[in-house]
Amino acid sequence: MTRTLLIDTDTASDDAVALIMALRSPDVRVAAITVVAGNAPVAQATSNALFTVELCGANVPVYSGAEAPLLRKLVIADWFHGADGLGDHGYKPAKRRAEPGHAVDALIQTVRDNPGIEIVTLGPLTNLAMALLREPKLAASVKRCVVMGGAPCCVGNVTPAAEFNLWVDPEAARIVFRSGLPLEMVGWQLCCGGAALDEKDVARALALKNPVAEFAIRCNSAASEAFFKQTGQRGISLPDPVTMGIALNPALCTSWSAHYVEIEVSSDLTRGMTLVDRLNVATDPRNRDVWANAIEQDRKVHLCWSLDIPKWKELLFSALT
Ligand code: BDR
Ligand code: CA
Repeated sequence: MTRTLLIDTDTASDDAVALIMALRSPDVRVAAITVVAGNAPVAQATSNALFTVELCGANVPVYSGAEAPLLRKLVIADWFHGADGLGDHGYKPAKRRAEPGHAVDALIQTVRDNPGIEIVTLGPLTNLAMALLREPKLAASVKRCVVMGGAPCCVGNVTPAAEFNLWVDPEAARIVFRSGLPLEMVGWQLCCGGAALDEKDVARALALKNPVAEFAIRCNSAASEAFFKQTGQRGISLPDPVTMGIALNPALCTSWSAHYVEIEVSSDLTRGMTLVDRLNVATDPRNRDVWANAIEQDRKVHLCWSLDIPKWKELLFSALT
């Protein structure tokens, strides 16, 4: 039986590559793409999603959603992905239009219509949190929810403590992490080191000489420069495609473990931090107050700690071929 996916995305350069992977996967049907503000304002991110869908010749509905985080001012990542989110190469807008209606309504309806659906989130969790606030029972109809977000037990990419998606809208992240959804978390660190596309990978993709592979590399030009400035590593880091790879083929994650996880919303210094209870301190009665919600709900998040990089790259190349 074909698996059904819903993808929530703040479509910029690495999101676009993740969308290509899903839209070209023979194993899944993408029921809907819902767009949220994050890397770019929501109108731009929606336009980028439509462009990507059209480039793939796919016929998947795209819905525009939340324009800003639940409580905070939107901070976009134009410094990383370029002003248009796609490296500022002047891509012509798609002919396709977004569907009428709000992404949050579409998300609720799509889950209702497809019990057992899998959700993949590639941006701030605003749309999903809004859907869950309106319809808490939604969580029980979702088979898996694979989240690109967080910097578990490691340094973040926007602050020493936090990764961009969860930092942008930490309150939404907390709602989602407390919702009872079966969460699988793919942290930012998994896209660094050997997982980033190196010169050889880029040459291999460009040698495919097709518009999709060319776009996947070119739209990440600004992101590649920003990644170098940020980390000192040359290459194209692709957090959303790593996440999509694991969503499409869970065996790409070579070590998982389940833990209580909380999201920091109070402190300015550690806003959006993913606190992973690897030492199991949550069950200590002395810590009961701070971990009460996780303990009472007995909710643990599955965290991926390592990636089968060669297999992930093969999956990526099969989507670009
Ligand atoms: C995440 O933030 C965005 O810049 C990327 O698209 C990815 O979803 C990485 O922190
Ligand atoms: Ca993203």
